[in-house]
Amino acid sequence: MPLYRLLPGILVLPCILLACAPVPPAAEAPAQPAPVPLPPTLASNPGMPQFAPTDLVNEASALTQRFVGTLLPTLQGAIAVGGPVGAIDVCAVEAPRIAQVLSEESGWEVKRVSLKARNSSMATPDGWETQVLNVFDLRQRSGEPPATLNVAEVVNGRFRYMQAQPTMPLCLTCHGSNISPEVSSALARKYPNDKATGYQEGQIRGAISLSKQM
Ligand code: HEC
Repeated sequence: MPLYRLLPGILVLPCILLACAPVPPAAEAPAQPAPVPLPPTLASNPGMPQFAPTDLVNEASALTQRFVGTLLPTLQGAIAVGGPVGAIDVCAVEAPRIAQVLSEESGWEVKRVSLKARNSSMATPDGWETQVLNVFDLRQRSGEPPATLNVAEVVNGRFRYMQAQPTMPLCLTCHGSNISPEVSSALARKYPNDKATGYQEGQIRGAISLSKQM
């Protein structure tokens, strides 16, 4: 084999050896993840990369999955048993109860929020939640799959996390634009200031919002 064909190998070998040389341990290797950097403001950062410790993100994400995983079958069961009108009362009792049980179990504050709240006393978003919900809407409209939308951020020493709740076909019975007269009047009786109708499939109905003191 001519020498010029061997040359690259001869040159590359020492480089590989150097690259593989064991890296001496850092003098003070941090046991904990690096401190959370302060994120840019939400307004100027619509993509909102996650500036948060991954263990908290994982914990929050698992809690939102438990919330939905408990509420959805409860809702479906209630509709099967008592129809949508009966399910309204179940939803009104069960959703806050699940949120409370998860809060007590985990030490996180767990709630649901929406830009168009049905239960305005429980689901009205604060300033940060409003910004995140607006960003969710923007991202959903620009084509991102709504079920994947979540945001984690540390705000004033509190870890905050939100997971978008997309409108599925089932939700339209009580949140859509073609609601039956019986459901409409039952909703009007219970929620005179209801804003949570007129949704289409795929739109963001709201979010599960979690927070925990760091
Ligand atoms: C049987 C009627 C019914 C169906 C179906 C239904 N909801 Fe609701 N939804 C309600 C009622 C009633 C409330 C208010 C509960 C309360 O008082 O806390 C509510 C509240 C909410 C809230 C809390 C924010 C707010 O506006 O008060 C979210 C988020 C929500 N629903 C999402 C959904 C999603 C997503 C689906 C589909 C998977 C769905 N809902 C299906 C009746 C329904």
